[in-house]
Amino acid sequence: ENFDKYIITVFGASGDLSKKKTFPAIFGLFKQGELKEDECKIVGYARSKMTTEELRSRIKPFLLKQAEEPIVDKFLSNVSYVQGPYDTPEGYKKLGETYKILEKDLNNGEPVNKLHYLALPPSVFGTVCTQIKENIYINEETAKTKIIVEKPFGHDLESSRQLQKELAPLFSEDELYRIDHYLGKEMVKNLLVLRFGNILFSAAWNKEFIQNIQITFKEPFGTEGRGGYFNDIGIIRDVMQNHLLQVLTLLTMERPVSFDSEAVRDEKVKVLKAIAPLNHDDIVIGQYGASEDGSKPSYLDDETVPKGSKCITFAAMNFQIRNERWDGVPIVMKAGKALDVGKVEIRIQFKQVASGMFNEIPNNELVIRIQPHEAVYLKCNMKTPGLATTTKMTDLDLTYNQRYQDFWIPQAYEALIRDALIGDHSNFVRDDELDVSWKLFTPLLDFLEGADAPNPIVYKYGSRGPEEINEYMNNHGYRYMKEN
Ligand code: BG6
Repeated sequence: ENFDKYIITVFGASGDLSKKKTFPAIFGLFKQGELKEDECKIVGYARSKMTTEELRSRIKPFLLKQAEEPIVDKFLSNVSYVQGPYDTPEGYKKLGETYKILEKDLNNGEPVNKLHYLALPPSVFGTVCTQIKENIYINEETAKTKIIVEKPFGHDLESSRQLQKELAPLFSEDELYRIDHYLGKEMVKNLLVLRFGNILFSAAWNKEFIQNIQITFKEPFGTEGRGGYFNDIGIIRDVMQNHLLQVLTLLTMERPVSFDSEAVRDEKVKVLKAIAPLNHDDIVIGQYGASEDGSKPSYLDDETVPKGSKCITFAAMNFQIRNERWDGVPIVMKAGKALDVGKVEIRIQFKQVASGMFNEIPNNELVIRIQPHEAVYLKCNMKTPGLATTTKMTDLDLTYNQRYQDFWIPQAYEALIRDALIGDHSNFVRDDELDVSWKLFTPLLDFLEGADAPNPIVYKYGSRGPEEINEYMNNHGYRYMKEN
């Protein structure tokens, strides 16, 4: 695909997401030489009255966190601003004129590819896409139009389908890029290579060898400042139905025939369809209370949160995949806010070796740490050096910041924007994939938000979550082992 020349337009250019994520990611690619001045221009679009200079100085402090001033200034000189409403044509016409000017510079006036990044709430996706289509869409073999959108893709199955219905007639699946930024994380991208590029792992990746899988997401902060927003969403919609389900899918899908995006996504959809309905009784739900010392507030202390809210800030649930590979293996996903640490990791606990030679020897465990500090380590039993035959569990350890010191580990958004530019859909969510994921979660969400919903267990801010989680893990075959 022609990745030569691009205009990237960021809609919602004055908002939080663009300042914190979108512009820094585009800049990151520029800094790495992935985007070049004579090949790419960036346009910000929003309703706010502001000049190009004002937009530049607004985003500059965020870019200075990543690099020195000269390169930041060089990047910013390629950023311009167009002001306009989202729902009527005039702004889009201005945008079209700006494109013409930029195309003169970039491509002797010939059209170049356009990437439209909608850093906007989904309620306006339909409107903005309609306006883009009607006012600035060019259907040329040589110049593609692409749209990037980001979650939430609906609130449940019905609203997600509604959103799909709005977008589908406007842009084809090939032109749409639904971001789930977890798919851009280095370690998540490594999953397919780790699983399918190593015969050792691929041979043992099934119910004969694996006792259970845990996917854990922990954040050490609560929803302070965004409680009102979070209240309608809850931890399940916030990170489980999307980010962690993506991780689960990549961990459990069958081998795709190639790295081709459709081959990968076909397999993802297949395994999602093999997941049994989520069992309402087989979950732990929690909401954080104040910290032990009282220095951190409870969820309900937030003034923007409705009194008595049952919003879930912690959840653990078990996925049963009804296929030959996984039948009977507990796959537990747990996620929580306001916990003891911040980390996202996968633990694959293998079965115990036969007894006889060893008495109570620990199980092998493969740990894949997605963040912080990417790492893969395999817990193995080894003989302790010395005359006696004593064993000790030790790690075969690949810690990225030791092994890959001189490598650039791209940020999720950097990787994904580049993928969209080169037209690689593998790490974006396909429409049918989204549909199956909502089908899976909607009945559970309806139950948890319905009249018979259980009360979430209150856990302390800064703790490991509800104490019930230990028993839950034990019941799902997880063997706690002393770290040594
Ligand atoms: C977002 C959620 O999608 O993902 C946030 O809305 C969450 O609540 C964030 O904090 C986690 O992303 P990351 O990349 O910081 O792990």
